Amino acid sequence: MQKKEIIELLNSDGTELFAAADEVRKKYKKDEVHLRGLIEFSNICKRNCAYCGLQARNKKLERYRLLPDEIIEIAKKAANLGYKTVVLQSGEDDFYTTEIICNIVSEIKKLDMALTLSIGEKSYDEYKAYREAGADRYLLRIETTDENLYKKLHPNMSLENRKKCLYNLKKLGYETGSGTLVGIGQEVSSLADDILFFKSLDMDMVGIGPFIPHPNTPLKGEINPKNFDMALKMMAITRLVMPDINIPATTAMETINPNGRIIALQSGANVVMPNITTTKYRSKYEIYPNKICLNDAPETCRSCIEAKIRSIGRYVSDTKGYRKQ
Ligand code: 5AD
Ligand code: FES
Repeated sequence: MQKKEIIELLNSDGTELFAAADEVRKKYKKDEVHLRGLIEFSNICKRNCAYCGLQARNKKLERYRLLPDEIIEIAKKAANLGYKTVVLQSGEDDFYTTEIICNIVSEIKKLDMALTLSIGEKSYDEYKAYREAGADRYLLRIETTDENLYKKLHPNMSLENRKKCLYNLKKLGYETGSGTLVGIGQEVSSLADDILFFKSLDMDMVGIGPFIPHPNTPLKGEINPKNFDMALKMMAITRLVMPDINIPATTAMETINPNGRIIALQSGANVVMPNITTTKYRSKYEIYPNKICLNDAPETCRSCIEAKIRSIGRYVSDTKGYRKQ
């Protein structure tokens, strides 16, 4: 697809696009939905991304950090609940040295699950060490490929380094995921560039979510409902352009639309990432306000989403759900 066509689709009402993406999803990924259990293990972050509630400058947030044993316990519980993948996500928290992360990874890999890391920008050697410890996948959204906007929103960070991280992850053989945060000031043309970027790097996973303003950040304000529609169109086009990749129905979509994940699953998505973080920490992992499932136990999230998935004629996979089976 050419950039011009992507822009046209992003400017369309989406009706035909969503139907086409659903058809392509069915052809390449069947009716299988992969569940990835998400463990938010630390909300401590040294960065100051303008849109993110975890940013270091947000002094109003009560911080927490799970110990390796606690993380491993949650992973065991996930395995017992039937999860085939766990995702370990945190702010950029230097408490977790390479050695600590590698130990956690190798312990969890004994449980016969796929393991995804989402812990930010690290050096080639760090990514290499995690990979050798057994990590299978890595998530690092590019957020925006617009260089000026990227600079404005990410103090002391660079688009160039973020890209380098993604190249390194691919090179090390990770199933690599990226994605866009839709509504942080991009032009439609730059959203089209994001999709072409994912394609050019042959990303294995792409997660797209709408921006939800956080009151304790410089980007505070009202939710723009258009971000949901635009995120959904981005996701659907990504499915058309990269038909065999894994695409999540994101939590942020459900936060601004009560049926958001189901709508996404019917517009190209084939993955859901239920939260399996211990309930008492959930409200503190406040990337954006009013996140869903704040008071729900891990068991509840699993059965809730499973029921929803079955209600639309889809089923939960019992495989690890790699891009290429
Ligand atoms: N609204 C929605 N998503 C956000 N993220 C960060 N801040 C927000 C926000 N205010 C997303 C980023 C990041 C992911 C973990 O959460 O895209 O990559
Ligand atoms: Fe932590 Fe954005 S504030 S990665």
